[in-house]
Amino acid sequence: MIAYASRTGNVKYIVSKLKVKSIEISEGLMLTEPYLLFTYTDGLGDIPVKVARFLDHNANHCKGVVVSGNSNFGHAVFGGAGDKIATTYQIPLVRKLDLRGYQADYEAIQQYYETRVTG
Ligand SMILES: Cc1cc2nc3c(=O)[nH]c(=O)nc-3n(C[C@H](O)[C@H](O)[C@H](O)COP(=O)(O)O)c2cc1C
Repeated sequence: MIAYASRTGNVKYIVSKLKVKSIEISEGLMLTEPYLLFTYTDGLGDIPVKVARFLDHNANHCKGVVVSGNSNFGHAVFGGAGDKIATTYQIPLVRKLDLRGYQADYEAIQQYYETRVTG
């Protein structure tokens, strides 16, 4: 299972490249099975508010986070949501993608999913 948040479509596109069932994060969503979290980065390296709210009730089943950012924001805050989720919730950072990323990213994520989430 993948849970994702996407504002302008990049994360949604990344998720579409994987062979895994997915659900978009909405208010009140509760997951009872292992999942990978996909998010964009907001503010200056920040976790989107809807993702933070979701994690407050769902961090226990989260097996890893994949983050999309824009490297033009600079190294200090590129994909910062992923770094903050990893440290705040003790969740492994699986991959940081620039915008939609590349085929090699999708393959690495698929591999992680099969070994660490369903494996
Ligand atoms: C208001 C705003 C703030 C952003 N801040 C950051 C940032 O601090 N670091 C970063 O890497 N990307 C930042 N981004 C870029 C997005 O995270 C990036 O474009 C991402 O691919 C968007 O995913 P989405 O299309 O699924 O919403 C920001 C984008 C917007 C619109």
